[in-house]
Amino acid sequence: DYSKDLEGRKIIVTAGPTQEPIDPVRYITNHSTGKMGYAIAKAAKNRGAEVLLISGPTNLSAPDGVKIINVVTANEMYEAVLNNLKDADIVIKSAAVADYRPKNKSDVKIKKSDDDLNIELTRNPDILYEIGKIKGNRILVGFAAETNDVLNNALKKIKKKNLDLIVANDITQKGAGFKSETNIVTIIDKNGNYKSLKKMTKEEVADVILDKVVDMILKKEG
Ligand code: C5P
Repeated sequence: DYSKDLEGRKIIVTAGPTQEPIDPVRYITNHSTGKMGYAIAKAAKNRGAEVLLISGPTNLSAPDGVKIINVVTANEMYEAVLNNLKDADIVIKSAAVADYRPKNKSDVKIKKSDDDLNIELTRNPDILYEIGKIKGNRILVGFAAETNDVLNNALKKIKKKNLDLIVANDITQKGAGFKSETNIVTIIDKNGNYKSLKKMTKEEVADVILDKVVDMILKKEG
């Protein structure tokens, strides 16, 4: 049982995948279900925080008492995060944002032909990188889904995106990553201190992440 150790804190959590339209019926997406982010939103609410969940398309419903903004594309998520950033003390970006989108969305369904079809992709904004540049006093937490060299890649992301904490998982492990009820993560702070957790439910992982966030806030405030 946790006390209300996030009472008075405002937190933005992003969750789920984004969908990038190709035409009115097709899109590019990934395997994210949103479970990890929704678990964080729920845990933060239970611990007294005021929570805004910014979610891509998922099958989950918002936890009780959590405000939700539903978005579809990476650009919409970017806009929603920026519009709400000024009120936030903590931002946790667990969404699996699409790095690319089709450069031109067709207004009509693309007809098949016997030829191959090329779809040109263009970069989406890296939301975390952009808010890292303007984070001020906020605590910024990122996620990293890796398939190899987990620790090194995660540390690079902390530096590049100006994060306080990164939650890295090796998505090739059984019981970790997309669609799983459990996760196996390593939590790494900006000083390179890290803790590898055993296989846990996503609810348990959420509380460990928030423990670390509370620690960092208390240290910051002396
Ligand atoms: O660089 P990589 O995509 O592995 O970093 C993952 C982290 O960056 C996640 O926290 C994710 O939410 C965030 N991200 C983002 N915008 C993107 C891509 C990733 O905010 N376009």
